[in-house]
Amino acid sequence: MTGDSIFKHYLEKKNTLIKDRGILQTTYVPEQLLHRESQINDIVDIVGPSLNKEQPSNILIIGKTGTGKTAVVNYVGKELMKEDAGNNNCCYIYVNCEVIDTPYSILYNISNQIITDPNNKIPFTGWSLDKIFNEITKVIDNENKVFIIVLDEIDKSFKKNGDDIFYFLTTVNTMLKRSRVSIIGITNNSKFTEECLSPKIRSRLGEEKIIFPPYSLDQLIDILNDRAKIAFYPDVLEPSVINYCAAVSAQDSGDARKALDLLRIAADIAERNSDSMITPAHVDFARQKIELDAFTEIIKTLTDQSKIVLRSIIDNPKSENGYVNTGDVYVTYTNIANQLYLPILTQRRVADLISELDMLGIINARVKSFGRKGRTKEINVNLSKDVINLLNSDDLFQNFSHKSSVSQTTFDTDFN
Ligand SMILES: Nc1ncnc2c1ncn2[C@@H]1O[C@H](COP(=O)(O)OP(=O)(O)OP(=O)(O)O)[C@@H](O)[C@H]1O
Ligand SMILES: [Mg+2]
Repeated sequence: MTGDSIFKHYLEKKNTLIKDRGILQTTYVPEQLLHRESQINDIVDIVGPSLNKEQPSNILIIGKTGTGKTAVVNYVGKELMKEDAGNNNCCYIYVNCEVIDTPYSILYNISNQIITDPNNKIPFTGWSLDKIFNEITKVIDNENKVFIIVLDEIDKSFKKNGDDIFYFLTTVNTMLKRSRVSIIGITNNSKFTEECLSPKIRSRLGEEKIIFPPYSLDQLIDILNDRAKIAFYPDVLEPSVINYCAAVSAQDSGDARKALDLLRIAADIAERNSDSMITPAHVDFARQKIELDAFTEIIKTLTDQSKIVLRSIIDNPKSENGYVNTGDVYVTYTNIANQLYLPILTQRRVADLISELDMLGIINARVKSFGRKGRTKEINVNLSKDVINLLNSDDLFQNFSHKSSVSQTTFDTDFN
């Protein structure tokens, strides 16, 4: 060892492509939110009366991931607070229910954003829910304001806790004399309200509904161009790169986060390679990396038997119509399980595992009926060739082969 910093080459190396990496991060809040004028105007029209201390309707915002819901709501909240400065008629409170996910912690977090005096803070734990409900009602009423409380990812809280918290927050107005509360709920699960909430809470929470549709190709191009012009040095992007990133994301989901991730990772790869320009080939690498990371995470969570079923699907030659059928998968499965000295699951159980892989999005399986001759599933793998090759070389699939000499009880998770 020379005593040099192990980061020396990073310190010495200057970025030649990316001027400001932070601008490409999804946490960056851009100055303008393109193609969301109508949603911004709708929210402004609904929450605007709070500037005159009038209670706005509750809003439910629904849209797929990466469609700008969080960014837009926080942008409107920030502008609302700017407008209200000096008047103190309203207060914007944001809670992400994926991170802050119990009724107590949600109420604690809301109270913490209201109470500034450290001596009056509600304790982090230890109170009953009734006590914290009562206390927060008092705190809110004392302020004599309109509170706009955003519950982002509300479905995540519901999954863990049911709808008590929504019940409290949508009925708290009946207990208030001076202040008013209105709720903005955000979800990317369009079925959430219908399937999860009781009719009463559903109608209260969804007094106004605002839909965020996926971005189109042209809209994604605008969003990426807007960031690229400040994030990169001049002339380092090959002209087709933005369109390519946008096209991939538009085709999949119209997700701006994904498009930005793709551009950022492509740029990182080019920078690390010391290439002089960012090209579509870097985008391909980035795409592969994102896909591999996502599937690797999912595959890591699979049981050994599920991994073998996936292996059997991948290893099976496709039929003329491009699909693999369950019968062939089962034959391959039994061969692999035998080689590994693993207990053989029944065909029915393997079919269940195939359905689980289908639900995880790793494969597509559709039932094909042959009338009286029975049914099979036609299976198509959703992984690109590159990812399959990488998985083949990866040790995820080899983990269980090391265990094959171990007692078979190691593999009991999948047996019924
Ligand atoms: N119209 C837009 N203009 C510029 N950037 C945008 C726009 N819409 C989204 N983005 C950017 O895309 C990323 C994802 O947006 P956001 O987090 O608001 O999505 P979301 O709809 O809340 O997704 P999720 O449901 O996964 O929470 C953010 O970095 C955001 O800044
Ligand atoms: Mg969000």
